[in-house]
Amino acid sequence: MDNNIDSSDLRSYLHMKSFQYPVAKYPFKELLESLYGCELSDLHKYIGGFDKFDRQHDQSTLIHKVFYSNFKEKIKPIYENFIKEFIPKIVLYKPFYYQIIPTLRVGLPKNVFVGEFHKDSFYNHQKYELNFNLGLANYEGDASLVTEIIPNSKDWVKLSCPYGNIFSFDHIDCLHGSKINNSNKTMVSFDFRLALKEIYFSSESKSVNMKSLFKPGEYFSKEVI
Ligand SMILES: [Fe+2]
Repeated sequence: MDNNIDSSDLRSYLHMKSFQYPVAKYPFKELLESLYGCELSDLHKYIGGFDKFDRQHDQSTLIHKVFYSNFKEKIKPIYENFIKEFIPKIVLYKPFYYQIIPTLRVGLPKNVFVGEFHKDSFYNHQKYELNFNLGLANYEGDASLVTEIIPNSKDWVKLSCPYGNIFSFDHIDCLHGSKINNSNKTMVSFDFRLALKEIYFSSESKSVNMKSLFKPGEYFSKEVI
């Protein structure tokens, strides 16, 4: 029955659904902890103080720079295996392009991990996208993602994501953001988008942070999975 779902209905079908994956096979957290040399929950102890992030600064810390500069060599091999082996079943084997470099989120204590409440459609993202969040540390409680349950409802839910889980949500039509992390642990996660091939269309839209075109071979993979 699931296989009767059209690509255009898949984003709302997957909204707020969680999935477990084997961490031994995709050890993202262990890899990042060896890269940073500390537990991810403790990163705030070594990074100094920051003002509350706004949209321009929520990708600006040294934690982000270390992630992106090591991505290709250290993280990409596991990420690509994960995308190719684990994700197809979840998306009901619909063909897709994937975000080549996932977006790292860091929720420091007394700070937010996204700069403002928004829909990704405000930032040029298109309706052919799906969005997945992968929690690495402390993605719970105050440091959860806050999202509308139904588009434009202003009914909110907190989505948590313990390590070993991913969740999807409707990032295009539901307002979402983060509240102040009132715990004393750093929240770390990354998220990535897929572009469903059956409903993909080319446009001149660009990502706000990376300024790359939402096209296969730029923001998205050239390869179809
Ligand atoms: Fe978003």
